[in-house]
Amino acid sequence: MNYHYLHFDEIDSTNVYLKNSYQLLDNFTFVSADYQSKGKGRNDRVWESVKGLNLMFSVLIKDPRLVNESNALSLMTAVEISKLLESCNIKNISIKWPNDVLVNDKKICGILLEGQIPNYLVVGIGLNVNQKEFLESLRRPATSIANELNKDIDIEVIKEKLFPNIINNFNKLDKDEYLSYFRTHNYLLNKRVKVNINHQLFIGEVVGIDDNFNIQILSHDLLLHVDSGELEIL
Ligand code: BTN
Repeated sequence: MNYHYLHFDEIDSTNVYLKNSYQLLDNFTFVSADYQSKGKGRNDRVWESVKGLNLMFSVLIKDPRLVNESNALSLMTAVEISKLLESCNIKNISIKWPNDVLVNDKKICGILLEGQIPNYLVVGIGLNVNQKEFLESLRRPATSIANELNKDIDIEVIKEKLFPNIINNFNKLDKDEYLSYFRTHNYLLNKRVKVNINHQLFIGEVVGIDDNFNIQILSHDLLLHVDSGELEIL
């Protein structure tokens, strides 16, 4: 399959690159890097990764059908990563809404969605591949494909599998398929969480996800449909 693909030895951030050049680039342009000097995580955090060991890339989305699905897109990406991990024979995969992929409760992949609706979206993905040691100070324990399989993996092979799947399946936009995969891999299901909505604090239990990709939290007698934000597990 033909797609637009750029690779950098070093860059500030693949997300920033695509955000700065989206007008010149085509839908489904992929940009990867061995090292990012200003890798971005969610909520203004920094995404650090040892040079050459992990897969860091971003994909530009300009197709209006997909740009309008910004709510679904990070979860759709998490599902694509989970399926890739399954194809590598990794077990115990779950997705922590809205977009972390976990293996045995440890984070293996983070996703950062940025952009300007209705013009474009950039989906940035950091997947731990061959890194074996992680800082104890990370917010949540981390793992990598190599740690799970006890062997190193060729990052190029991962790209060759993943990029065409992302294009094919995003184009299909089979939301029911994405939802049903997520429903069987929902890390937060039945967990008690705290969420801040418009400066109001709610505590409740995660009971599912609705058809618009909002997480559902039962707080006393109130069924909340939450479309974004950070949930704190209690
Ligand atoms: C998270 O906080 O979990 C999201 C991390 C996203 C990191 C990726 S690495 C490739 C892309 N470029 C960035 O600067 N960030 C994303």
